[in-house]
Amino acid sequence: MSYYKISDLEQYFKHYKKSVREPRKFWGKIAEENFLWYQGWEKVFEFEMIKGEIKWFLGGKVNIVKNCIDRHLSKRGDKPAIIFEPNSIEEKEQIITYNELYTRVAKMANVLRSQGVKKGDRVCIYLPMIPELAVAMLACARIGAIHSVIFAGFSAAAVNARVKDCGAKMIITADGSYRGAKTLQLKTIIDEAIKEETSVEKVLVVKRTGEEVSMKEGRDIWLAPLYEEAEETNIAEIMDSEDPLFILYTSGSTGKPKGMVHTTAGYMVQTAYTFNNVFHNNDDDVFWCTADLGWITGHSYLLYGALLNGATTVLFEGIPTYPDAGRFWSIIDKYKVTQFYTAPTAIRSLMTEDYEHVTKHDLSSLRVLGSVGEPINEEAWHWFNDFIGKKRCPIVDTWWQTETGSIMISPLAYVTPAKPTYATLPLPGIQAVLMGEKNTEITGNQVMGSLCIKFPWPSMARTIWGDHERYIKTYFSDFPGTYFTGDGALRDEVGYYRITGRTDDVVIVSGHNLGTAPIEDAINQHPAVAESAVVGYPHEIKGNALYGYITLKAEGTSRDRENVRKEINQLITSHFGPIGKLDKIQFVDDLPKTRSGKILRRILRSIATNEMDNFGDTSTMINPEVVQHIIDNKL
Ligand code: WT7
Repeated sequence: MSYYKISDLEQYFKHYKKSVREPRKFWGKIAEENFLWYQGWEKVFEFEMIKGEIKWFLGGKVNIVKNCIDRHLSKRGDKPAIIFEPNSIEEKEQIITYNELYTRVAKMANVLRSQGVKKGDRVCIYLPMIPELAVAMLACARIGAIHSVIFAGFSAAAVNARVKDCGAKMIITADGSYRGAKTLQLKTIIDEAIKEETSVEKVLVVKRTGEEVSMKEGRDIWLAPLYEEAEETNIAEIMDSEDPLFILYTSGSTGKPKGMVHTTAGYMVQTAYTFNNVFHNNDDDVFWCTADLGWITGHSYLLYGALLNGATTVLFEGIPTYPDAGRFWSIIDKYKVTQFYTAPTAIRSLMTEDYEHVTKHDLSSLRVLGSVGEPINEEAWHWFNDFIGKKRCPIVDTWWQTETGSIMISPLAYVTPAKPTYATLPLPGIQAVLMGEKNTEITGNQVMGSLCIKFPWPSMARTIWGDHERYIKTYFSDFPGTYFTGDGALRDEVGYYRITGRTDDVVIVSGHNLGTAPIEDAINQHPAVAESAVVGYPHEIKGNALYGYITLKAEGTSRDRENVRKEINQLITSHFGPIGKLDKIQFVDDLPKTRSGKILRRILRSIATNEMDNFGDTSTMINPEVVQHIIDNKL
């Protein structure tokens, strides 16, 4: 019996039960049958949740890049591994086969070694979405260096904080990057980020835009001449299962960003397993994840999960609206993409564009659509389903986190019947529970609670870099004995999960516990509404009242605002009764968002509650200018 591929719902339930009853057997078999190990493990896992101590495949020896590339060469050497689509449609694409990827990674790995990078060293990577970014990540992993990718849109201050926190020895960057019609000067940002004394000894610079940069003697080096000279083969480092693979920073609502540490074997096993099952992977597929490699989605599915399965993965440098709003659809057409994985924020913005941008292109290659990052509202779900998938492609609404490493709750394409706005069922191995007050599990269906996971899974982050105490406090203290996700969820009559938002966003109105996501979902059904964010603010009688920030579609802006307000509240009332009505509705031009597209409800809540002196960490915000505008027009 192999557990690697689930073919139907009955088998899903079988595998799920097996994973709960005999987790050692379940994961042990998957790990043994599908990967290349230098040496097998002695123990599948060992853990103590209360102390945040989790280990998988103890004693195993492995290299994830051998599994991503080398072992595919005999069978798939000439198969495209990465398809690179540049920002400009004038520039030619690159089809990088597994053979070619091997050579590129080997050369880069040899360059890194020649510059003194060793196993365990931290290397920060601040690159645009170009092949060198993927190659740099894999080269680090090949030689056992710990990569920490910093999204190349972050400010010098954000880079500085991350570089300092992990004590990076090297930064890999580029002269500049293309984003739509703009170019960004990446090297200048790095110079600013490390102008004071840091741990950084070398800055390796990739030439991309060709603009002039200043090179500091003894510290900064161009990649090209070293790369040209480098040997084309490389012997991978033998890693322990629990050796760190990478650090990825995620921002908390307070305090500095958390450097989540992922280790080697468990991450490898579970990203591969989930990629294969959630996206219904077939050997001739072309997988496209639009997330930047600077986010966990890019790490786990664009890169590692795809390559571990020997798939073809698309790497797109540009933005959805350049040269026009049909770019995504043109790329699907050009490469005959079969799986398309994106975020609700991208869907919501593209659905406001002229539909001709879609119909111009042939999307018939698509088989699976995916969504990640926030709850997908019903409007967006239906648009995605009707107009992109033409009602023939299952949508997988995948719930997970930077901390979880891989997808946790999600339909499996062609296996799990979907239900709009529901992430549906936990994957095998994921023991999701809803917790209530006093650390008690809420059993049964048609219930709501704090979403926790009561048993460890292979790809969970093992610690916060340099701060294990904070790791324990953040994830293992609210509901001792379980991992607390920070999200609220409800479980419907058949056991499907719906994520209702971060629990710090939950608003108690007149004693009723309302998730913000379902209310926003109702609001977004109004034809004039583009996006919405709901937060609570103190109210004398109700305890809390609801404040809605709403952006209108182009065709909605001409409507009478008072009427739209009324209709929105009628819509909410029809879903939740008058309890869900918004006391205040402010129409805004734009909502404050993180660079990964999440609405920053925390900031909106501070504005609604008049606590504007401290917005917490705002370094990840993409559009800080909208905040003042919202404050100026506050109701
Ligand atoms: C938080 C994690 C994991 C990849 C991208 C985000 C929210 C994520 C969904 C979904 C509802 C979702 C949760 C989660 N979230 N996916 N399908 N439905 N909410 O990673 O930045 O670590 O954020 O994103 O609130 O806790 P992240």
